[in-house]
Amino acid sequence: MTRQVGDVILDVKNISLSFGGVKALTDISFDLREHEIRAIIGPNGAGKSSMLNCINGVYQPQQGSIALRGRTFRHMNSRQVAEMGVARTFQNLALFKGMSVLDNIMTGRNLRMKSNLLLQALRFGPAEREEIEHRRVVERIIDFLEIQPYRKTPVGKMPYGLQKRVDLGRALAMEPQVLLLDEPMAGMNVEEKQDMSRFILDVNDEFGTTIVLIEHDMGVVMDISDRVVVLDYGKKIGDGTPSEVRGNPDVIRAYLGVQH
Ligand SMILES: Nc1ncnc2c1ncn2[C@@H]1O[C@H](COP(=O)(O)OP(=O)(O)OP(=O)(O)O)[C@@H](O)[C@H]1O
Ligand SMILES: [Mg+2]
Repeated sequence: MTRQVGDVILDVKNISLSFGGVKALTDISFDLREHEIRAIIGPNGAGKSSMLNCINGVYQPQQGSIALRGRTFRHMNSRQVAEMGVARTFQNLALFKGMSVLDNIMTGRNLRMKSNLLLQALRFGPAEREEIEHRRVVERIIDFLEIQPYRKTPVGKMPYGLQKRVDLGRALAMEPQVLLLDEPMAGMNVEEKQDMSRFILDVNDEFGTTIVLIEHDMGVVMDISDRVVVLDYGKKIGDGTPSEVRGNPDVIRAYLGVQH
């Protein structure tokens, strides 16, 4: 990869998280540099989703700290983290299946809506202008993701691969600086994976978004990521470029030898 990366934007330090007796994460540290695509890999149950949940405020780790642009955030909820510019997609889709593509992506704009709902309902001037601007952003995302023919389609009626794309659109509507993607290609066929890889690269390239990507497909990870964190049983066992990680004996033992 020849991508130009910048300073550290997200700094994860000594994070430990447990659920009762289960240690989901033990003393995990890694950083994320501006504009890079950082993969997190590891076997099932390794703690990958838990790590994203700590970063975006869904879980509160018992130990450690996370800093975004040098600002440490402890005990922040997911809305506060989102307001700081971190958006995510979910391993199991969190879309409203009965709602259209347009409306689902619009929910990503909620964070940015200033006018209150009453004003919007009455369609007073500023609120109306704001609504038009939000719609414009959403339409741009729909064009970008090439899902124009589905604008009015209920999400539940779309093929799974396209639903994942809508979920990406909802996250993009938040105009994040950091985008956390939890297995965006899970359950996809080869062609759908290629499309999603291209969209992730385009988001990174065109919007300058920094990306954390959990992915099981090593081919995809090798192709599109700059650096890789490897987790196993909640511990970090590898960190480096895709080729460094691929050559690491601990990683080979824990993960790469196993077919996913
Ligand atoms: N809310 C929770 N309550 C109890 N245990 C949990 C919770 N969330 C995660 N865990 C446990 O933490 C460990 C790590 O789970 P996590 O979902 O982070 O793994 P993962 O690497 O994302 O796995 P997968 O590849 O299957 O998605 C597992 O043992 C899991 O059972
Ligand atoms: Mg997971």
